[in-house]
Parts: sequence; C-alpha cells; structure tokens
Amino acid sequence: MRRILTGDRPTGRLHIGHYFGSLQTRLKMQEDPNNEPYILIADVQALTDNFNNPEKVRKNVREVAIDYLSVGIDPNKTTIYIQSMVPETAELTVFYSNLVTIARLQRNPTVKTEIAQKKEIFGESVTYGFLGYPVSQAADITAFEGELVPVGEDQEPLIEQCREIVRKFNSIYGEVLVEPKAVLSTTKRIKGLDGNDKMGKSLGNAIYLADSEEEILKKVMSAVTDPNRIKKDDLGNPDVCMVSYYHKLFSPQMEVDEVCKECREGKRGCVACKKQLAKNISDTLKPIREKRKYYEEHLEEVDKILEEGTKKARKTARETMKKVKKAMKLDYFENEE
Ligand code: TRP
Ligand code: SF4
Repeated sequence: MRRILTGDRPTGRLHIGHYFGSLQTRLKMQEDPNNEPYILIADVQALTDNFNNPEKVRKNVREVAIDYLSVGIDPNKTTIYIQSMVPETAELTVFYSNLVTIARLQRNPTVKTEIAQKKEIFGESVTYGFLGYPVSQAADITAFEGELVPVGEDQEPLIEQCREIVRKFNSIYGEVLVEPKAVLSTTKRIKGLDGNDKMGKSLGNAIYLADSEEEILKKVMSAVTDPNRIKKDDLGNPDVCMVSYYHKLFSPQMEVDEVCKECREGKRGCVACKKQLAKNISDTLKPIREKRKYYEEHLEEVDKILEEGTKKARKTARETMKKVKKAMKLDYFENEE
C-alpha cells in the first residue's frame, strides 16, 4: 500500500479553485486500491498565522470536513483527521527542529513569500512558530511514512525541506524515515472572477462550493468582462473575459463555441451571457450543495467521521513514533504507551 498524505489549513471554506485542483486529484487517488490516502485538517499549522483567532480555525475545521465529504471524499477510502489531535506530530516537530537551521528556513521560498505577505500579523519579526511550520509539515508527512504528497507548486519547497530533514535524520539515527515525493498537480490553477491569478477569500474573487444559487449569480454578475465592450453590438473579445474563461470550465463545448462566436460578432449581451454561466455553475455544484445540506443536518455524522479518522491516524503515527524514539535512544520504558 502506498501512503498518500495531503492537507489543508482550515482558514476558510473550499472554493472551486480547490475543486479543480486538489480535490479532484484526491478523488481520483482514493479510487486506486493500492493507495492509502490521508487528508489532514491542519489546525495547528493554521494557528501559526491565526494564533489570535482560534474561533476561526475551530469553525473551519468542520466546514472543511463538510466540504470534503460533499465533493465525495469517502471516509471508507480516505482517512480524514485533525492535526492537533495527533500529538505525535508535535513531538516529531521538536525532534526535527534540531536538524534544520534558521537560515535554511528563512531561505525557503514559500516561507519567504508568506512572511512578506503577512507583515500585518508579524510586523518586522516573524514568530518562531511560523518560521518553523515547514518542520511541522515534515512531521505531518513523515509521521505517516507518507510516500506521495500531491500538492500545488507553491508547496514544493516545503516537501523539499521535508526530504532534507528525512535524509539528515536517517544519516544520524539510522534508516527510519521514508523520504516523500511531491506529486505536482496537473490541473491548472483557476483564476479569480476578477482575473487575478489566485482565487481566495481575502481577494473576494472566489466561488465557494457552499455558495447558494443566488450567491453564485451575484458573484458571476460582478465578473470582469471585455472592458472594450460597452454596447451589446460592440465586437467582443472573449479571450480577455473571465465569463468566457469560466464558461470553458463549466459549460458544454457547444455552448462555449456559441458564446465565443456570438461575442466576437457582437450578437451577445454580457448580462445574458453571465446568467447562462451562473446557471451552469450552479447546476454543476448542485449535487455538492445537496450533500452539504445533508451533512449540515447531520453534524454528529461529520464529527464521528473526524473522530474515527483521527483515531486511525493516531494509531499509524504512534507506530512511527515508536521507531523514531528507539532510533533516537528515547525508548526508556518497555511498555510506554
Ligand atoms: N501547507 C499546506 C497548505 O497550506 C497544508 C499542509 C499541512 C499540508 N501539512 C501538510 C499539505 C502535509 C501536505 C502535506 O495547503
Ligand atoms: Fe464576456 Fe460573454 Fe460579454 Fe463576451 S458576451 S464579453 S464572453 S460576458
């Protein structure tokens, strides 16, 4: 069995960018009987830059879990667990912190970019916890002897850092840890409704899996269209329009062809074009919304799934911990739990 590990920080609900990216990869991976996938809801990592907002993290643990279940992550095939409830990962983080230098963490391109973006939280001096989150992520991965880590490009430096820690650990304490490989997502990153390369809550340009029909319509109405098109009979350029960009993701090919042709010929009104798109997005997300509604009405089921998943994850992490402690000569008591 191949252990596969992925995760998300629970800082907000998941959006269609996640859907076309990580979620579809995970859905495919859980169908391969040779895979043993784990998904962690990284609440401890979320706290590294949201330590002053524990409510937000707490609330989103459940939201993200509901999102997973609604898109079809199947708890019988994929183990979903809460990071903080597997304290072995915190313990490993402490052990690994001896194997990584501050300079190396500061050079990590992902961390570097994030620190620059988070001046508002950290001011001129970043916290020890945030700077060290790659170490904690290495603990997440290695605690499960994760072999494959399917992630977006931005996470690659974190996996590389994890690989370095594994090599260092193994060279000092013996061959115990498994060196993971990043599997880069082949799906492309979805742009925001405003044309921004990134979709996100802070940018206000995302459609969430949980959005209602009305919310979707309202958001699509605000999407950026061809700025040179003022009247309906102005000839348009769908290549610079976010509405046509989303039609390509959500509408049947025939409709897409029609949209582009009519737009170029000045025979299509933007309002009608947007309404048609909103309907197609809404129809595509409908089964997800319906499943979400079910889970919202059966929260005890969600909590049970998280509890069971966490129990299973902890068992796996404990086995790794035993090997790690033995290798590090920290195995003091025979029957230590
Ligand atoms: N850093 C990841 C993100 O921001 C979340 C994460 C935490 C993760 N631990 C992980 C991803 C381990 C893959 C493997 O999305
Ligand atoms: Fe965009 Fe449609 Fe308007 Fe063309 S008609 S500019 S594709 S919204």
